Amino acid sequence: MNIIEIIEKKKHGLVLSKEEIYFTIEGMMNGTIKDYQISALLMAICLKGMNAQETTDLTLAMRYSGDVLDLSSIGMTVVDKHSTGGVGDKTTLIVGPIMAELGVPVAKMSGRGLGITGGTIDKLDSIPGFSSDVSDEKFMELIKTVGMVDAAQTKNLAPADKYLYALRDVTGTVDSIPLIASSIMSKKLASGADAIVLDVKCGSGAFMKDEKSAKQLAKTMIDIAYLAGKECTAIISDMNQPLGYAVGNLLEVIEVVQFLTGKRQNNRLLELVIRLCREMYVLSDMFEWLYKDEAIKHLDRRIHHFNFESKSFSDTDIIMECPEIYEDAYNRRAYSDINPDDILEQADPAVRFCESIKDDAIDRRVIDRLEGIIYDFIQGGRAYKKFKEFIAAQGGDVRFIESLEDDEKVKEIFANELSAQITAPNSGIITQMDAELFGRASLELGAGRITKEADIDPLAGIMLDKTVGDKVEKGEVIGTIYSAEKEKIKNAINILNEAILVSEEQYNKE
Ligand code: URA
Repeated sequence: MNIIEIIEKKKHGLVLSKEEIYFTIEGMMNGTIKDYQISALLMAICLKGMNAQETTDLTLAMRYSGDVLDLSSIGMTVVDKHSTGGVGDKTTLIVGPIMAELGVPVAKMSGRGLGITGGTIDKLDSIPGFSSDVSDEKFMELIKTVGMVDAAQTKNLAPADKYLYALRDVTGTVDSIPLIASSIMSKKLASGADAIVLDVKCGSGAFMKDEKSAKQLAKTMIDIAYLAGKECTAIISDMNQPLGYAVGNLLEVIEVVQFLTGKRQNNRLLELVIRLCREMYVLSDMFEWLYKDEAIKHLDRRIHHFNFESKSFSDTDIIMECPEIYEDAYNRRAYSDINPDDILEQADPAVRFCESIKDDAIDRRVIDRLEGIIYDFIQGGRAYKKFKEFIAAQGGDVRFIESLEDDEKVKEIFANELSAQITAPNSGIITQMDAELFGRASLELGAGRITKEADIDPLAGIMLDKTVGDKVEKGEVIGTIYSAEKEKIKNAINILNEAILVSEEQYNKE
């Protein structure tokens, strides 16, 4: 076997064998295959594609190039949630505590932001005292005691992906679905989850700009998970506008606090949170325990496409059904330290109600009930309590978190940061807030980084008062931007003026 033959084969659109793919990744890692040869192969993959088996083999070869976490001692199915990256996406900080409160273990390894895309660890790092540097022992202990942990990816997870990504970045080979899917899934599979819920972002602020390619990416990642023996579902969610009101790091934590205390909840964020929680819960042991094995067999695993405008999900292709995975989870649960009975005892009576539902009733009624429970956990303050417990367990200052509930105290925190208001240029309806431009403005303000090593300003970013669909009068405040530097504020205002459209025509129609 030699690399030239492998490149030639892919150049002619032929299917690579598992042995050829492993040989390539091993050779790349030990230096026997050169960067220019890998680059040529990447371009051939970009142009000719890869089938599901090849993409899975590439993913697994990358996964095994470094550490692979073993979370089996948790004794329950670990469900992970992964977003392909967006602007203002703080869902992990909300979904995690809800899941932990529902008894589903959340073992999260998050990344830092890069480019216009924010990262959960940067948001958490804006909380004084919070540490995302967690030892292996502490990681397991937090899952067992708090039910949730979020650690920075310090492990040597999928180093072949880092190597390949660096080459893709400089050879024009980033935008290939098999390469993106294998890059994301190699890290997911290395971080030890048994089941994965993917939030594939679609729109101007995302990798995937249109629905067709977002669906294709979702399907490719689900195929990889399936062939690797993991349960997986995907949601495709809108990223044409920022998610929620805040874009930045501490600003997004403030929005999370406002959301969990019920002070201010953005509808799009609420609906996405409920949907992600529902998907995670359905894949967890808790759901299986509640609805029993037979019921599970009636569940379709689908790609869901969420349309924020009509506030509805449409189900598209049925991707897979894999009841044996549930059976396996059921057996493993016998060793769990977490007893579902204990959790149900403390839970809302609505959760206990679910237990009495008959197997064949796994229908819309059950799903509605589940969504109702998740909603109650948010509105009743249980998720906020768990959020504070999680922050405290990783060293974060809970009094600081509580101070974010008070607008006056927030003003004090931002007292030394420069700010400016974005106002409506005319009366009308806001018809556009371009997510990519919001991402660029936030990067300009200092909330993001261009290179992995760059520093960020935790206070920088954008806090919106209005979002798409809102009516505004000329001069009315649409939002406030924060930065440490005057020049950055000026540049960000220019970008945001381009990003926001206020339609007089729409206004006159109303
Ligand atoms: N995120 C990744 O981890 N890899 C890609 O290739 C694209 C997005």
